[in-house]
Amino acid sequence: MLETKPKHNGEKTGKAHNQTIEATLNYSTYFCALMANDNKLQNIIGHCKEYGFIFQSSEIYDGLGAVYDYGQYGAELKKNIRDYWWRSMTQMHDNIVGIDAAIFMHPTVWKASGHVDNFSDPMIDNKDSQKRYRVDHLIEAYAETLEKEQSDALLQQMEQLLAANDLAGIKQLIEDNKISCAVSGTCNWTDVRQFNLMFATQLGSLAEEANEIYLRPETAQGIFVNFLNVQKTGRMKIPFGIAQTGKAFRNEIVARGFIFRMREFEQMEMQFFVKPGTQKEWYEYWKETRMKWHLSLGISADHYRFHDHVKLAHYADMACDIEFDFPMGFKEVEGIHSRTDFDLKQHQEFSGKKLTYFDTEINQHYVPYVVETSIGLDRAVMMILSEAYKEEDLSADDKVDSRVVLSFPPMLAPIKLAVLPLTKKDGLPEIARDLINECKPHFKCFYEEKDSIGKRYRRQDAIGTPFCITIDHQTKEDQTVTIRYRDSMTQERIALADVKNLVMDKIKMF
Ligand code: GAP
Repeated sequence: MLETKPKHNGEKTGKAHNQTIEATLNYSTYFCALMANDNKLQNIIGHCKEYGFIFQSSEIYDGLGAVYDYGQYGAELKKNIRDYWWRSMTQMHDNIVGIDAAIFMHPTVWKASGHVDNFSDPMIDNKDSQKRYRVDHLIEAYAETLEKEQSDALLQQMEQLLAANDLAGIKQLIEDNKISCAVSGTCNWTDVRQFNLMFATQLGSLAEEANEIYLRPETAQGIFVNFLNVQKTGRMKIPFGIAQTGKAFRNEIVARGFIFRMREFEQMEMQFFVKPGTQKEWYEYWKETRMKWHLSLGISADHYRFHDHVKLAHYADMACDIEFDFPMGFKEVEGIHSRTDFDLKQHQEFSGKKLTYFDTEINQHYVPYVVETSIGLDRAVMMILSEAYKEEDLSADDKVDSRVVLSFPPMLAPIKLAVLPLTKKDGLPEIARDLINECKPHFKCFYEEKDSIGKRYRRQDAIGTPFCITIDHQTKEDQTVTIRYRDSMTQERIALADVKNLVMDKIKMF
């Protein structure tokens, strides 16, 4: 497959063992661990639904597999992450510009890019359960149950067979290791087959006139085909980047892990065009820069790791993933790929149009090399949710013994400020409304006057609002309010006139 690479997931330690019975025991330990993590994942999924973050698509019709809708708070969270990425790329780098290319592209684009021929995953079906697996997922899950030495050997064999496109060999490997289906428990497998992941549709009014086109499986090609348009109109000098965010579609056969693997998802990609021969230094630069971006979200470094690709896609000379410690373990959230001049050269050949750059410093035309950074927006949402979601036991003196809180970085929180009048009368709601009117041109606010203050705080905790302001009778006397901080739950008295600037200071991105 073009973009998906077999990976080693999880470090294994301890002495080697070769007893089938022990392997079986380890397999069940593995599933117990999976279930514990699954609980956290299930709790996050339940919370997202209950509080308006993420819903199953077409839920009233029993849902559509691996397709999700963002609710009122999820859409804000996602937009804030997108904005932070967009501004980090296009505002904080004066040599990166952003574009917005169409989802539909000329069908030849996908022939040139290699997606028509190569964008597929090897799959295998269990004949008893009818369950379909991506073979690398199936083998990797089994490898997790083995000691390090055995696991490494198995994964190495798998990678060699996948690299050689030896599908019969992969089936043999599954059979030799007696890898069974998690549903039926049997080893009754079909042959391994390749499934193309692109969705096709018809462009044109009549079937006989219509052309088959594809929903784009990556946003990157919209950047490659516009390389010269942007370079010329923007008078861009190499090195420079083109950034884009937008929907991508893949007919994932095994879609799982909530919004981790979806059929319709959003990518945030940046292609950085460099002089041939300089790609190694730019690849290192972008690895470091992207990791710094992740750490700027307040996530600790030990929740991240790099994973170098063993099997490189045909266009790449270097590639790695930034993996995050999701509830299901370390998994890819972003890819960094040195894509050489493959894509531009292919488009040059298939379109017959020159896609070269004239470098005035060396007086030469060349096809630039490209270093790509590609992060899934939905995966970034899931990363932020996984990191922020906390079930906390609280001391009795707080009168509430537990809470669920989403400790989002304030700049990403869907609602930045909740304004809560203590009572519905005595002019307190009016003061609250005035404060909201002052703040709402600058950031998203929320007004609520129903229920006790404690209950209102809990509801704001559950959607991740970093600051709550309570307007009480003292406010009328001395123009002060209580500010309550989500994470520490501490409160202090501040001047009403200072609220807007205090919040603006805490939510600034740069
Ligand atoms: N242009 C390069 C490219 O598309 P990729 O590794 O296939 O590379 C990049 O995808 C990122 O897109 C991944 O790191 C992941 O975050 C996201 N992504 C890929 N497939 C996805 C899916 N089915 N659901 C959600 N996100 C996905």
